[in-house]
Amino acid sequence: MSFISNDEINAIRAASNIVNIVGSYIPLTQRGKNYVCVCPFHDDHSPSMSVSEEKQIYKCFSCGATGNVFTFVSEFENVPFIEAVSIVADKCGMELSKSAYTSNLPQAFCEEHEIMELSQKYFANNLKTSAGETAMSYLKDRGIDDDIIKEFGIGLSLDSNDSLFNLLTKKNYDSKTLIEIGLINNVSGKNYDMFSRRITFPLWDKDGNIVGFSARVYRNEKDISKYMNSRESKIFKKGETLYNYHNARNAAKREKEIIVVEGFMDAIRISSIGLKNVVALQGTAMTNDQIMLLKKLRVKVILCLDNDKAGLLATVNNGEELVKNDIETYVIRLSGKKDPDEYILANGKDSFIDNVKNPLTFFEFKMNYLKQNKDLNNVEDLSSYINDVLKNLADNTDAILRELTLNKLSSDYDISLEVLKNKLEQMVPVVVKKKEEIIKNNNTKKDAYIIGSEKILYFMMNGEEYIKNYQKKLGFFSDSLYREIANEIVYFCEKNREITVADFITYVTDNVTIKDKVMEIVNDSLNDEISMDAMDEYISAVLKIITKNEIKRLKIMMKNELDVDKKMKIALQIAELKKEDV
Ligand code: CTP
Ligand code: MN
Repeated sequence: MSFISNDEINAIRAASNIVNIVGSYIPLTQRGKNYVCVCPFHDDHSPSMSVSEEKQIYKCFSCGATGNVFTFVSEFENVPFIEAVSIVADKCGMELSKSAYTSNLPQAFCEEHEIMELSQKYFANNLKTSAGETAMSYLKDRGIDDDIIKEFGIGLSLDSNDSLFNLLTKKNYDSKTLIEIGLINNVSGKNYDMFSRRITFPLWDKDGNIVGFSARVYRNEKDISKYMNSRESKIFKKGETLYNYHNARNAAKREKEIIVVEGFMDAIRISSIGLKNVVALQGTAMTNDQIMLLKKLRVKVILCLDNDKAGLLATVNNGEELVKNDIETYVIRLSGKKDPDEYILANGKDSFIDNVKNPLTFFEFKMNYLKQNKDLNNVEDLSSYINDVLKNLADNTDAILRELTLNKLSSDYDISLEVLKNKLEQMVPVVVKKKEEIIKNNNTKKDAYIIGSEKILYFMMNGEEYIKNYQKKLGFFSDSLYREIANEIVYFCEKNREITVADFITYVTDNVTIKDKVMEIVNDSLNDEISMDAMDEYISAVLKIITKNEIKRLKIMMKNELDVDKKMKIALQIAELKKEDV
């Protein structure tokens, strides 16, 4: 993999024309200033993708895919970003400079990653030494063979309390860094290896950099917790990682589905029987960032969580969230054994694969779930069950599913279709109304604030003069994500002495926290006219909202204030703000 400087990447971008590059993959039709084509990133039937020659950006109106020439090639050819850069360079006849040297370093590799790699190699080697015999036989007993050990980089942190610490400090790594990234624990001034006496499993970020470890006890040590995980750090954000995502994403795109399990042991087992499209949550809860990682794959998600109460509840909750995010969701409930790992060891590979081939749709699963603990011969239970089903149906927009389910309920429980339909109809408006209400509540004021802030950020990506305008008239976002994006824009422009949307996109591709939002902003605004007047309108709208919110806050403060003098002061402040707010 190559390492190419940002300046060079920007030069390649400037030399290429997105219209030619996209056009080399799919036919484009000119429509006004822009070009349109069928979007290759979702099942598109009419041209939903627009390519702007002026801005050197593409966007899909339907699935939201957005980016510059590099992200297009990277997504289309399914290659890492940096490889996409060299493909684009190739396509427009540019040669990469000599300084674009070749190495095995993944993108954005930093010292922390280097330390993690080194530690992993050290742990892996420990397992092969005589000190690793007991750990090795534990793994073998669990059916983890040498191939799996190698593939998943499994290792051992020795019984010694400081062997890793000594190794790393000998290599001149700062102990402060080692503590920060959770490899070393400092207790009353003394440094200890965090994972000693445990089998280590490296954890990777979505790009395949090692960012931490999870480590398991392997001897009969009942009084300490089974797993110990790296603490959150600059490079490790637990909620933003899915175990094995970097390996699974290509297989998932190939298979058009991805299996989601709880434990990384389950993921390792499933991968070892040839299903490479598997990731682990590392627990039962699923974060929004994890959902976004899954959504990006644009494939079916098959939830296969543990066969216990927690796993069942998590299947319901996670499934609902996935469905809400328009992800086609399926469920496997294994029986007999606690988790997929144990199930496969007990029943064999084929039995598990059978399950994967015949999952329930999330709706089917939910219907079964609603039946649980209900005696459907009992009239009250039956009625509550049917009401539950109807409530779920009312939430569902699939007309065919509604029809089929109503028919089935009617024939299974001998209830007239008429009655069911009437009841459902009564429910739909309630639920829909509720949804509308929530949207409306979220939208008032806040929505204008969001729109305004995002437009301002978009303007800022279009040139230094817009950044200056922001700094002069607004200077600050109260929302931390917007603030971070604004900071990155300012930083980018200072470093490069200029800014374009297309180059800024290159820059954020690495940044997990802000990338999706930046893409969304660009997607929403790509066809907007760029002018200082338009920007000023958004700035004054946002300022108005800030003032309104401040007035609101002060009013509450005033109401709760008992001291009359202070009350007066707040009232004056409010009056002052109201003067501004015209
Ligand atoms: N976990 C954790 N800390 C614990 C227990 C669990 O971080 N004390 C996380 C781990 O990431 C684990 C996942 O939750 O992979 C699922 O937990 P569990 O089902 O208990 O683990 P198993 O995968 O069954 O692990 P094993 O088979 O090794 O016992
Ligand atoms: Mn297990």
